[in-house]
Amino acid sequence: MSAFAVDPTVPRASATDIAVALQDPGFGRYFVDHMAQATWSAADGWHDKALLATGPLSLHPAVSGLHYGQQIFEGLKAYRHADDSVWMFRPEKNAARFAHSAARMQMPALPTEDFIESVTKVVQLNLDWVPQAEGEQSLYLRPFMFASEIQIGVKASDYYTYICLGMPVMPFYPQPLTLWVSPTYSRSMAGGTGDAKCGGNYGASMIAEAEAHRNGCTQVLWLDSATRSWVEEGGTMNFLVITESGELVTPELNGRILAGITRDSLLTLAESHGLRPVERPLAFAELCEGITSGRITEVLACGTAAVVSPVVGIKSPEIDLTVGDGTPGAKTLELRAHLTGIQFGTEPDIHGWMRRV
Ligand code: PLP
Ligand code: COI
Repeated sequence: MSAFAVDPTVPRASATDIAVALQDPGFGRYFVDHMAQATWSAADGWHDKALLATGPLSLHPAVSGLHYGQQIFEGLKAYRHADDSVWMFRPEKNAARFAHSAARMQMPALPTEDFIESVTKVVQLNLDWVPQAEGEQSLYLRPFMFASEIQIGVKASDYYTYICLGMPVMPFYPQPLTLWVSPTYSRSMAGGTGDAKCGGNYGASMIAEAEAHRNGCTQVLWLDSATRSWVEEGGTMNFLVITESGELVTPELNGRILAGITRDSLLTLAESHGLRPVERPLAFAELCEGITSGRITEVLACGTAAVVSPVVGIKSPEIDLTVGDGTPGAKTLELRAHLTGIQFGTEPDIHGWMRRV
């Protein structure tokens, strides 16, 4: 299989421009010089794999991805260590989830080796853009794929475009979170796309996020759509609680929630913090009762962009709960420090999660 070819004419940002960007990168405010791109057609499979200048695409307005939402994406990060080496966190898990999302959306799988090569090359060619570790900054990678056949009829496309963008970022939620339980909206359903990372899941959630903001909350806490009695996940992150009896409980992967890589990593790290990892259905009533009675001592949410974020409040039209004393929980902060320590190379990587770029 051919490799992603580097376009030698890609213009390079100046050291000054990069320094300005890294002073306050936001989340997706600045993009690195190169993006990876590849095309798939039913006739030729994956081809035209290249690293090109990050810049506008020329698209016919009838490409079906713009109309029918055949689109998927991923999110992973590269971290600079104190010795200046740069490492990615569990990229093969993102490659596998990208293939899973593709299958759900009737799109072609990008082979794992192409996914890994594309993300690796975006980092390798843009090392100056990888921030120093201070402030938990990192280089966020956004692989995505969309249907690019010119076609207004509704059917799976015969052409797809894959791109991977790179951007320096800070953690997405700098402050502890308050989550909103919408009385109206749902994220996913049995047989739906909840466990795929497709753009439509996020487009459909924005109305609930706006409702959350109007009610003074940072993000949404989704319940199951059928009964509105089971906790599923946060808007851009998985959801966990810590109980008085020392369990780290998170809703089980039921096909309606995203199989988060951070979630999996925290479940793996739990035991080294004296916590028993438990994946099981978590009733919303149990969550509320647990917070009120003190049986649930800490609430947290996690994701690549969100890292590990303490949840200090849960609100709905009926309830307004403060978790503990309203400040981040001690175990949550320990788990966060352990995970980010592995990512930034200050804690041993005993699970072999880091891949040197
Ligand atoms: N759930 C949703 C809906 C997300 O958007 C994300 C973010 O990617 C996650 C969970 C967490 O997944 P991960 O830890 O793999 O980033
Ligand atoms: C991620 O954590 O990578 C996400 O997808 C969250 C958000 C930026 C959409």
